[in-house]
Amino acid sequence: MILGLETSCDETAAALITHDGRILSNVVSSQADLHARSGGVVPEVASRRHLELVTPVLREALGEAGAELDDVELLGVTTGPGLIGALLVGVSAAKAIAWARRLPLAAVDHLHGHVASLYLEPDPLEPPFLCLLASGGHTLLLDVRDRAAAPRVLGTTIDDAAGEAFDKGARLLGLGYPGGAEIDRLAREGDPHAYEFPVARVPGLDFSFSGVKTALLYAVRDLPAVELEQRRADLAASYQRAIVRALVDRTHGAAAQVGSTTIAVVGGVAANSELRGALPDAVLVPLALCTDNAAMIASAARFADPVAYPRYLALDAYASTA
Ligand code: KG4
Ligand code: ZN
Repeated sequence: MILGLETSCDETAAALITHDGRILSNVVSSQADLHARSGGVVPEVASRRHLELVTPVLREALGEAGAELDDVELLGVTTGPGLIGALLVGVSAAKAIAWARRLPLAAVDHLHGHVASLYLEPDPLEPPFLCLLASGGHTLLLDVRDRAAAPRVLGTTIDDAAGEAFDKGARLLGLGYPGGAEIDRLAREGDPHAYEFPVARVPGLDFSFSGVKTALLYAVRDLPAVELEQRRADLAASYQRAIVRALVDRTHGAAAQVGSTTIAVVGGVAANSELRGALPDAVLVPLALCTDNAAMIASAARFADPVAYPRYLALDAYASTA
């Protein structure tokens, strides 16, 4: 079986899957509560928490799968992009486990991991497909032709990521962190046409979300406190509608451009109920696999070139691909 480890941001995660992509266990310990006080992830706090959680989370994943470390044949670990200190915790743990058992270790790119969440049982997706990857750190349109090769990037955000726009919008509305799920929930009680929030249309297949965030900021600022309380759900619904419309428009545009008949959506924002409803024919990653998890990292490890013992001891984490 394959052990996956993921510690790139504020989720400490371990999972065991079979070589054919069946999930045996998938344990995610979120630090969201820890970071809620500051309204966002504090990198140094995240690293320290990963260090405390990585062993118990791994134990729980083994326990749930009814497995022992001796059953593991391959490890996959996120080496980037992400918070460097956070990544190093997972990378060091993976190196130690692999080295002690002379196992091969696959270095997994977090974004490939999100795409590989589509390759797990019971409904694994076969390329080619057009993939919208929308998370807290990235918004990408990918032309996926092959499970092993890096996909071609057709479009990306020129400023904020879609999840970041949700998180920042939630903060403006006085909602909790992480904000995407909070806006999603509140939006159900509001009128999505109450406000006309414009989303900038940048040339090509790129996205821009900083303008819509500023539009929300002005709308919030112009409302007296009592009225803000009454209009909060309308603001959330209108804001969500604007972001989802931009995502859906560009995704359809990209699919048309590359002649793709299959559209898939992955990443934390793929959990958004309005986005899911707006793309009824798309392959939507199961809710449990939208936000960061280690099953997707183990899945990507299946298609990576594993590094043999002991060469991976020189593996390093990287904060960004640029
Ligand atoms: O993929 P992910 O767990 O982490 C990154 O790789 O960034 O994505 C986290 C992002 C956060 O910005 C969060 O607000 C957003 O996904 N998110 C949502 C929903 N659930 C999580 N955004 C919109 N609607 C949701 N239901
Ligand atoms: Zn992610």
